[in-house]
Amino acid sequence: MIIKSADFVKSATRPAHYPEAELPEVAFAGRSNVGKSSLINVLVNRKALVRTSSTPGRTQLINFFSINGTFHLVDLPGYGFAQVPLAVKKEWGPMVRTYLESRTSLKAVVILFDIRRVPREEDLQLLDWLEEFEIPTIPVITKADKIGRGQRDRQIKPILEATGLPLDAFTLFSATTREGRDEVWQRLEAALEEDASGAGSDDFPATGEDFA
Ligand code: GTP
Ligand code: MG
Repeated sequence: MIIKSADFVKSATRPAHYPEAELPEVAFAGRSNVGKSSLINVLVNRKALVRTSSTPGRTQLINFFSINGTFHLVDLPGYGFAQVPLAVKKEWGPMVRTYLESRTSLKAVVILFDIRRVPREEDLQLLDWLEEFEIPTIPVITKADKIGRGQRDRQIKPILEATGLPLDAFTLFSATTREGRDEVWQRLEAALEEDASGAGSDDFPATGEDFA
């Protein structure tokens, strides 16, 4: 993917404020501090298109970015940060669920897991929603640089067990070394292209019944 432009479009909390669903889009989800914003910045080769922070829980909005004017990348609010006020925590579920359920241009969700952490309730909740709404899922294990190559399999095992996903479903990624960047792009491009090949297929009934 050649990045010609990467621009912030807008922030929103609810559908009325989302940008028009004219371009295909891929969203990034995962617990606070897992590295969503860092992954997006590495993908688009920008140091700070998306604000990253060492103070987790700051990104409490759905942030839309336009890439090459042809598709959107969406930074979803993180969850699971203990010091976020309860009122804000309560908003996360409805905000993210509504987005997943209603966003017609959504082609896939990248869900991030920290290589050093066992997935928790919200991670599994998110996977359930993605399954419920039949949204293609791109699981990524990030911060791979934090663990030596020899230790990785042992670290990853609890993630496989908790999610029930096979090892080959995951892409290993590091925002520090950029390991896995190309593989994530391949999977994003495949998801975005689904749009072109699948577009309009619902317009043609499989049987003649509708014409009766
Ligand atoms: P919220 O916006 O709070 O939900 O967090 P986020 O998921 O967007 O995480 P963010 O990208 O802001 O990263 C959080 C911290 O982890 C920052 O200090 C990053 O520099 C660091 N970080 C992110 N990815 C990596 C990685 O692959 N390796 C290492 N070593 N650090 C990383
Ligand atoms: Mg962020």
